[in-house]
Amino acid sequence: MRIDIISLFPEFVAQVAGHGVVGRARERGLLSLHGWNPRDHAEGNYRRVDDRPFGGGPGMVMMIDPLRACIAAARAAEPAPARVIYLSPQGRPFTQAKARELAGESRLVLLCGRYEGVDERLLAAEVDEEISIGDYVLSGGELAAAVVVDAVARLQEGALNDAESAVQDSFEGDGLLDCPHYTRPLEHPLGDVPTVLLSGNHAEIARWRRKQALGRTWLRRPDLLDREHLSVADRALLEE
Ligand code: ADE
Repeated sequence: MRIDIISLFPEFVAQVAGHGVVGRARERGLLSLHGWNPRDHAEGNYRRVDDRPFGGGPGMVMMIDPLRACIAAARAAEPAPARVIYLSPQGRPFTQAKARELAGESRLVLLCGRYEGVDERLLAAEVDEEISIGDYVLSGGELAAAVVVDAVARLQEGALNDAESAVQDSFEGDGLLDCPHYTRPLEHPLGDVPTVLLSGNHAEIARWRRKQALGRTWLRRPDLLDREHLSVADRALLEE
């Protein structure tokens, strides 16, 4: 998969998303990242990329032409076509389901805005989709792009060492939060490991984990549980 990042700080995104699983996915040839700076496509001595908003008000708006030339340059790379995504708080929420959907694409172009926003005509003409990573405002789309790159990279086949671990993650499969995890030492001043995990009884361990996942989701994210059509067995576990 190839991801192009259009940003006034393209190296920032590549750096944030350059470690751990994403770095390994790149090394393994599963993912390539390419940065594009709209300033390289701006005219004049000052290479201007922004201007004051029509109608007045604070801040600056990113201009159409440098971004359009930059997107065209990114689009021209192979393999075509590319899906162009604008990161903004006005977008649809980024979810694990969306990450899975995007992970299946062969190319993405992520457009990061700065200042107060981007000229709406550019968005209408060039952008396929607008995505938000949450209901808060960042000072630019770069961190949001890094979030999308990370979530999508780890879903590339072969990116994770233990292929199972993506399936067990929170939000994967059944949409529940993950259960708690423990490792050595067995006994610690902060507490002991739940004994069921030492029993060697795989059915009992699976049952305990399911119960923990249901209980956590119920307490922390009841909105996720509402969406699930709970089985009779799950309902019994929750009521235990
Ligand atoms: N740019 C600024 N805030 C953002 C957000 N919450 N999600 C995506 N892009 C953004």
